[in-house]
Amino acid sequence: MTVAAKIDAPEMETRLVNDPDWWRGAVLYQIYPRSFADSNGDGVGDLPGIIERLPYIANLGADAIWISPFMKSPMDDFGYDVSDYRDVDPMFGTLDDFKQLLQEAHKQGLRVLIDLVISHTSEQHEWFVESRRDRTNDKADWYVWANAKADGSPPNNWLSIFGGSAWQWDTRRLQYYLHNFLRSQPDLNFHNEEVQAAVLDAARFWLELGVDGFRLDTVNFYFHDQELRDNGPNEDLSQLNTAPLSNPYSYQYHTYDKSRPENLAFLEKLRAVMDEYDNRMLVGEIGSEEDPYGLLKEYTEGDKRLHMSYVFDLLSNEPTPDYITQGVRNLYEQAPGGWPCWAMSNHDVKRVVSRLSPEADKRAAASCLLALTSSLKGSPCLYQGEELGWSESEVPYELLQDPYGIEMWPDFKGRDGCRTPMAWRYTEHGGFTSGTPWLPVDEQHIAENVEKQQQDPHSPLQKSIAFLNWRKEIKALQKGAFELIETGHDKVFGFKRELDSETVVCLFNLSNDLAEVHLELLDGCEVLSDNGFSCSLNGSTAQLPAWQAGYFRLNK
Ligand code: BGC
Ligand code: MG
Repeated sequence: MTVAAKIDAPEMETRLVNDPDWWRGAVLYQIYPRSFADSNGDGVGDLPGIIERLPYIANLGADAIWISPFMKSPMDDFGYDVSDYRDVDPMFGTLDDFKQLLQEAHKQGLRVLIDLVISHTSEQHEWFVESRRDRTNDKADWYVWANAKADGSPPNNWLSIFGGSAWQWDTRRLQYYLHNFLRSQPDLNFHNEEVQAAVLDAARFWLELGVDGFRLDTVNFYFHDQELRDNGPNEDLSQLNTAPLSNPYSYQYHTYDKSRPENLAFLEKLRAVMDEYDNRMLVGEIGSEEDPYGLLKEYTEGDKRLHMSYVFDLLSNEPTPDYITQGVRNLYEQAPGGWPCWAMSNHDVKRVVSRLSPEADKRAAASCLLALTSSLKGSPCLYQGEELGWSESEVPYELLQDPYGIEMWPDFKGRDGCRTPMAWRYTEHGGFTSGTPWLPVDEQHIAENVEKQQQDPHSPLQKSIAFLNWRKEIKALQKGAFELIETGHDKVFGFKRELDSETVVCLFNLSNDLAEVHLELLDGCEVLSDNGFSCSLNGSTAQLPAWQAGYFRLNK
């Protein structure tokens, strides 16, 4: 009976509400664990470091954290090469640390998403160690093995994102194996049912511990064409989502090495596992050059596959009104039933303020872009440091850590510039570590450190806090319908969100100059304040100072 049940299962202390739809419009905060906070002085961030800083994230107004990989790994791709799906890498702490992190986060009202990297493993994973032993072992077919062509060359023209052929020769099996990324990241063979069962079990392991969901790494890479057909050339180099132009990977359409139709049935199996638990969520990283929106629609519409798609549309280029309009329009028009997860920065791309034109006031722009991302229809995902308005760091070649950058230098410098550690205080290494940080802490970030920004009411951090906490009360910004507005001003991006009787007009001045916008729609609106921005309204004319956002409620 109820009393007995209570004694048997003491409730974990939590501030989370029971809502299967919690992720719609929720603010996600991405933590790159190596670079967040180091508790033990080894120069690498860790789980206890994150626990200490959870109040910072809760206070910011986030609803959930996504932690980039912390499972056991040789760290060739900094955790995106997993060697054990059921343990924490000692560099980051222990499984008990993770359990404590979950409990603490939930207590503070933060859900916890983890990165599930199952398209490939590390070459050190015991599955691969066994698989490469010979052609007859139990796991012989767990990875994608193929014979050489008669002339000894690789089976087809598939390329690795990190450079060169996607095929690596193995001297024991006298066969090639497939790797879409580093050659130490062999690709699992999802056509094998045992592989599917094994990765679903790995997911279950973390769900049992209580994680609230997964960010699915490279979710459209799970399957490959079993006939190993050659990819054809990419005829439209304007849509580059996965790799820069300096990378030959961009010169192919990846018809046969990813986004294969078999993936849909697997996603349904994974979703069914999620649905055995309450309030869990899947957000998949979908990188595709060819028909990305069709893919997204297939992956996210309905309630049998992914809950959300992590989209690339705002992750490259300068975020001008035209560019944002194009991304947003494509997505809402071509996948109207899908729910996007919007990001402007992450651990793989140049930080957004550094993609602005050189004369832009970066500090002011940061808050405006954060508000914009967090007001679109979808769920925003903010990357550590974005709330602080930080720029991309310059990491000299000698200090580069990212194998992708080392391979593609100098045109593409890799991903270290967005991965430099957090600067918490005005001390050596910004208080990130008492040791030597794995990447240098940026002097500019130390000058604009967290503690300093906490004391300055006009700092990007204080504006982010004001905005995100204000946003919690404006339900139309979380779940409302969306409509683009033609603002008549080339530097002002605008749209309308509408939920029940609440309509909010949102305008963003993406320039260093005062902007004036005339819209009939604004007539009779009330200016919403206390969100960290200032603007004014006179009849149907809104005045937005440089890099200010304006929110106007239509009174019916
Ligand atoms: C991650 C990258 C990683 C790659 C391979 C991604 O898209 O975000 O950081 O290198 O997958 O796992
Ligand atoms: Mg550490």
